[in-house]
Amino acid sequence: MGKTSFKKIAPDDIAYFKKLLGDSYVSIDPEQLARCAHDETEDLHYMPEVVLQPATVEEVSAVMKYCNEQLIPVTPRGAGTGLSGGALPVMGGVVLDMKRFNKILKADKENFQVVTEPGVITQELQEQLKAQGLFYPPDPASKGSCFIGGNVSENSGGPRAVKYGVVKDYVLNIEMVLPGGEVIWTGANVLKNATGYNLTQLVVGSEGTLGIITKIVLRLIPAVQHDLLMLVPFRSAIDACRAVNEIFLAGYTPSALEFMERDALEWTMRYVQATGISLPDDIQAHLLIEVDGNKQEQLYEEMEAISAIMQRFDTGEILFADSHEQKQMLWALRRKVGEAVKSNSIYKEEDTVVPRASLPQLLETVKRIGREYGFTSVCYGHAGDGNLHVNIVKGDMSDADWQNKLPQAIRVLFKEVVAMGGTISGEHGIGFVQKHYMDIAFNDIQVGLMRKIKDVFDPRGILNPGKVFVN
Ligand code: LAC
Ligand code: ZN
Repeated sequence: MGKTSFKKIAPDDIAYFKKLLGDSYVSIDPEQLARCAHDETEDLHYMPEVVLQPATVEEVSAVMKYCNEQLIPVTPRGAGTGLSGGALPVMGGVVLDMKRFNKILKADKENFQVVTEPGVITQELQEQLKAQGLFYPPDPASKGSCFIGGNVSENSGGPRAVKYGVVKDYVLNIEMVLPGGEVIWTGANVLKNATGYNLTQLVVGSEGTLGIITKIVLRLIPAVQHDLLMLVPFRSAIDACRAVNEIFLAGYTPSALEFMERDALEWTMRYVQATGISLPDDIQAHLLIEVDGNKQEQLYEEMEAISAIMQRFDTGEILFADSHEQKQMLWALRRKVGEAVKSNSIYKEEDTVVPRASLPQLLETVKRIGREYGFTSVCYGHAGDGNLHVNIVKGDMSDADWQNKLPQAIRVLFKEVVAMGGTISGEHGIGFVQKHYMDIAFNDIQVGLMRKIKDVFDPRGILNPGKVFVN
């Protein structure tokens, strides 16, 4: 690793790739290059030199072997929905577009497992499994467009994580191509595994820096029959955060427990032109709370108990979603918050996470630092996990302050988050945009261990360079 000087791609390289993959799957077309120059992270763009679309593990292996020999940087790409710049080809070179790895290979109903390729859209995977009585819970906001391979690479979460866990809790085994072209499986298709180091979990969340994922084996659970959803308005955002922990202390684990500050909901309602929800002037935040299970009666009881807990705080009128359509509408609103914020202003997204009981302190800290450094923020996220997406909006902050003062403010915020026992990313990853803050979460010894691991997998530093580590 370190400061490698990479080779620029030449006509000979293009010819070689075409021989390997066929002309149609090697593109230097400006539109294709531009499509792969960005993900959903801010407005960042870095042009690759070529986009390759392999379809088999042998093709991936041959591409990697060649790029490793030639010192050509390779950036793997899923659906490009990432929020930390993991898919940005910041050193140019090859983008390895995994969209042709789009097959669900085997749903094993006997063992509650599925073998899938990485380019399958997460929601499609979930729907196909559900039709067979199987449930894969992790549901990032972008589930309708993101790829399962990207989810594994980022160790994604989503609303259901509070009850069902995140992606890492479902990955049993991974087939991957190492930067030198070798193909390995990381583990075994078993529910328990105490055999050697856990390579599978090392690869989960490694943000495409250790190898190219070509197959994934996921653990599944039986499909859940029913759910209920309610939207609880609060007159104080801090109160909403305080209410979160009371639910758990009373012995309930909702299947989703999401927080939205007033602006998050208001901007999203405007963005999707939603009607049917009233947002009185005195409401400052909402909790969206879902319970699920197989016994309707029990769910009604849980909802009643939770709403009684909520009403100990200064709440407005609780909306109980009474139809499938209303539930869909509320979830669509929640899932669109990120997009709505993005469309509203230049922004930076921070993915802070603290032990759940510290959530009120986290929100207070964000707002205090905002006042000190002159930024405004819209906060929302997975309150039940203590995971708050802090969207810092540029608003009328000057360009100079945005460039120079804001990184200092983020540093101060992250230090306070770590002091609370939290860390700097709960589910979006470090990638390109958070790497400068890694020293806050980890000391030199810890980062040193990670760098050595990276070197073992990728000694020539060709795979997703410029990510996770500062250089
Ligand atoms: C969400 C994404 C941004 O929770 O993680 O909407
Ligand atoms: Zn999220």
